[in-house]
Amino acid sequence: MNYFEDTNQCKRFQFNKKMKVPFVDLKRQHEAIKDELNEAIHRVISSGNFILGVEVEAFEAEFAAYTGAKHCVTCANGTDALELAFEALGIGDGDEVILPAFGWVSASMALKRIGAVPIFVDIHPDTFHITVDEIAPAITARTKAVVIVHLFGQANEVYKVSKLCKEKGLLLIEDCAQAHGLFIDGQQHVGNFGDIGTFSFYPTKNLGCMGDGGGVITNNSAIANKIRALRDYGRVEGRFTIDGRNSRMDGLQAAVLRTKLPYLDGWNGKRREIANRYNQILKQKLEYTPTTLHNVFYKYILRLDPSLVLQIFPRAVFINEGNRYDIVKHSKGITMLEENQTTMYSLPNRPELTETEITYICHSLT
Ligand SMILES: Cc1ncc(COP(=O)(O)O)c(C=O)c1O
Repeated sequence: MNYFEDTNQCKRFQFNKKMKVPFVDLKRQHEAIKDELNEAIHRVISSGNFILGVEVEAFEAEFAAYTGAKHCVTCANGTDALELAFEALGIGDGDEVILPAFGWVSASMALKRIGAVPIFVDIHPDTFHITVDEIAPAITARTKAVVIVHLFGQANEVYKVSKLCKEKGLLLIEDCAQAHGLFIDGQQHVGNFGDIGTFSFYPTKNLGCMGDGGGVITNNSAIANKIRALRDYGRVEGRFTIDGRNSRMDGLQAAVLRTKLPYLDGWNGKRREIANRYNQILKQKLEYTPTTLHNVFYKYILRLDPSLVLQIFPRAVFINEGNRYDIVKHSKGITMLEENQTTMYSLPNRPELTETEITYICHSLT
């Protein structure tokens, strides 16, 4: 039922409480599964096994099975996951790599660090993602790969982009740092549409650990083996074979992730449910409605003229609390990029929101 059809519920609700609804509240998520987390953490402490080891191997097997990929290889964070993926795919000096002009900095930074050249293309106004129409004209003889980012938990045109990359002989990397548990058409998990999918397990992500963490999924055994070596000083079966680095996951993070993974689908379901409610309430007010198709709603994003925010949502106190997406400017002159910098807002949609908080947010938006 839509809360706004239930007028009694709205009347019963004491709006004037000026409730604060924080965007992130991991304490609440952890409180709900505290006993399981404590058990997992103590299991690692008593094992004395802290770097890689059984918990990491078990998580890699479980996450690979969950995503339907042949391999999962973890590492220290999502930025390393991208850099390791690029290195393992042989991307390097002077190679052009096409990626969205709008989003998080990690992919472009990682590319620059390995000497590759990021080629930024504009995003679609309703999805915040790049499309084949933007990617195709940016392809040159030096293009080696395309990076798509499933920003805010949403995927778009994965089949089309994958087809284009195959036709043009380009590598495809999917940055899934914001899209854990996103199955396209309920079947294929993102990260499986190209050569490799990269993940961040930063604490606030849909699946997050209690520190930094990252990983990749791939169906290519050679790439998986290369990343296994690269993340561990270039070692293969104890012998130093290539110039690698230290980017390993620790057992405590893996144990936390193993504890949380079985909850991921339920948490994503809750995020979708909250997004659906927002969509129903906001459909008259917004230029576009965020799609619930292929979306695990890492963030529920609105685009609004800042001067209209208080007119449109006169009571929405939470909307002005520094909850704009942090946008990093990569390049100038890209229309959507410029526009997004001033018009993007997000609403809280974490799975642990209580009914009272959801009612409060919904009520204040009307
Ligand atoms: C889309 C995207 N890619 C990469 C990263 C990098 O992940 P990490 O912070 O674990 O390095 C993030 C993190 O926020 C992200 O949102």
